[in-house]
Amino acid sequence: MTSPATSSVKTRHFLKDTDLSPAEQAEVLDLAVRLKAAPYSVQPFAADGSGRQTVAIIFDKTSTRTRVSFATGVADMGGNALIINPGEAQIGHKESVEDTAKVLERMVSTIVWRTGAHSGLVAMAENSKVPVINALCDDYHPCQLLADLLAVKEHKGELQGLTMAYLGDAANNMANSYLLAGVTAGMHVRIAGPEGYLPSDGIVAVAQERAAETGGSVLITTDAAEALTGADVVATDTWVSMGQEAEKEARLQLFRKYSVDEAAMAHAADDAVVLHCLPAYRGYEISAGVIDGPQSIVWDEAENRLHAQKALMAWLMHQSGLAVVEGLPPVGGQA
Ligand code: CP
Ligand code: NVA
Repeated sequence: MTSPATSSVKTRHFLKDTDLSPAEQAEVLDLAVRLKAAPYSVQPFAADGSGRQTVAIIFDKTSTRTRVSFATGVADMGGNALIINPGEAQIGHKESVEDTAKVLERMVSTIVWRTGAHSGLVAMAENSKVPVINALCDDYHPCQLLADLLAVKEHKGELQGLTMAYLGDAANNMANSYLLAGVTAGMHVRIAGPEGYLPSDGIVAVAQERAAETGGSVLITTDAAEALTGADVVATDTWVSMGQEAEKEARLQLFRKYSVDEAAMAHAADDAVVLHCLPAYRGYEISAGVIDGPQSIVWDEAENRLHAQKALMAWLMHQSGLAVVEGLPPVGGQA
């Protein structure tokens, strides 16, 4: 396989949900299904002399699922996961993002980064000839949504045409990603939260444009029941995201009416499934009865981080001309 320096194919990155077209998102999810059934069948990072083995995984914020799923996924695909914990590298305090990217792209096959500002990820990608993956930032959590959509697909079959309601902090990274990834899959996405904590006009405009392409739709509301009525999928997230700890007491009051509890679930379809990216705070954004009950698919969702991110990494390597994944359409000069 070619090295990044010699590849004539444009490097692909995954910084936000709409970086994948509807057809590409479907292709990644299909590959995830394949990899879940045959975990070692795709080896883009294998030590066969054709490419690079190491994936740099940088955390500016804490993590359990993202860290374990990326590290496991890289190992499953023949590679070496280099985990860089908060404060361990020079990035952000002693060295710019741009210079960091220019060093990492000389050594690793992929850069995975959990950080705050989305603009940092854009700067990393602009200076990297190897794929850059957003492992959560203040505005998006697109890897999580690939896992969520995979879980819904497994439980419901087709994603197209399903109604998905998200309740709670509707201005956070998960709300934005539910909106963008959901409409990309052709879903009817309803987002409910209090005034002042709804998706920005810019995000809504992008979502509406994507929905027009796929047959999905967008509803933004302050009325939880309006969002929930007849929903096939009900999702929520913590009311206190990483970095918002000082606002905790105010936030616990602010979002009270948007809890996914038994009363809320009574509005949804009888066979609705429930998502939560975790970590969860029982008794706040979700009741113990709902998250631990029969409609919850949160453990499948968590497991699917592994399968979905393996598919994403392999797909980005293939699309960037840095590996060949059997079964995907050839890119550039690939045989
Ligand atoms: N859902 C999620 O991203 O979990 P972690 O913060 O534990 O990685
Ligand atoms: N909105 C949460 C998601 C955690 C996976 C946060 O950013 O902390």
